[in-house]
Amino acid sequence: MSSRAAAASVSRLTRAAAARFAPDNSRRRFLQGAGAVGAAGLFAPGAFAEMLTPTPRQTEGPFYPDHLPLDTDNDLLIINDGITPAVGEVTHVGGRVLDAAGNPVRNALVEIWQVDGRGVYLHSQSGGGERDANFQGYGRFLTNAKGEYYFRTIRPVPYPGRTPHIHFAISRGERRVLTTQMYIKGEPRNERDGVLRGIRDKRQRESVLVDLKPLPDSTIGEVAGEFNIVLGMTPADPPRES
Ligand SMILES: [Fe+2]
Repeated sequence: MSSRAAAASVSRLTRAAAARFAPDNSRRRFLQGAGAVGAAGLFAPGAFAEMLTPTPRQTEGPFYPDHLPLDTDNDLLIINDGITPAVGEVTHVGGRVLDAAGNPVRNALVEIWQVDGRGVYLHSQSGGGERDANFQGYGRFLTNAKGEYYFRTIRPVPYPGRTPHIHFAISRGERRVLTTQMYIKGEPRNERDGVLRGIRDKRQRESVLVDLKPLPDSTIGEVAGEFNIVLGMTPADPPRES
């Protein structure tokens, strides 16, 4: 994708996100409209021709939640009807899940998990001290007909030994088809991160770096980024949906 196309699509994302998260929007509208958020007109058809680099697999790590939160929706900032948001820089992440040929993959389950603003996972063995009880820590979303997904979360923070990242898992039906991690483009710690550097192919490595851009008109410094996920073609993959 050209930088102009990328900027345009992020701009559409941020406009949609800004509208979505205007103060007068109710929680219910967020839930109902979430599928359309990241979403609506976000990516021009054909804009992904250059990005069919299969998203590299990355380790799941030891901290996939060993107990799920009470709320597993795509808004990690607020748990159920809580009124206190998680501590952190509000971050919108959306994109498309595509197959190796560039076709959108609908009904793919996208799961994410990450540390809270203090560097603590939603996991009983996580280090780092006390969790931020207002951070959901994990969320999931089923892609729409265009393969789109969307999350509202916090900007990932570093924890000992790792550069900031968000874990992603993609499943089709009951089967996990990809486990990977998303990183922040331009983050200096990326250079020293063994997991990220373990991706030897430069294009694949770059495909997991996401530019988190300031959301125009946000008064609280929100950022938004686009992470498109390309599933590799493996013999075990199910037939493509028509
Ligand atoms: Fe991690």
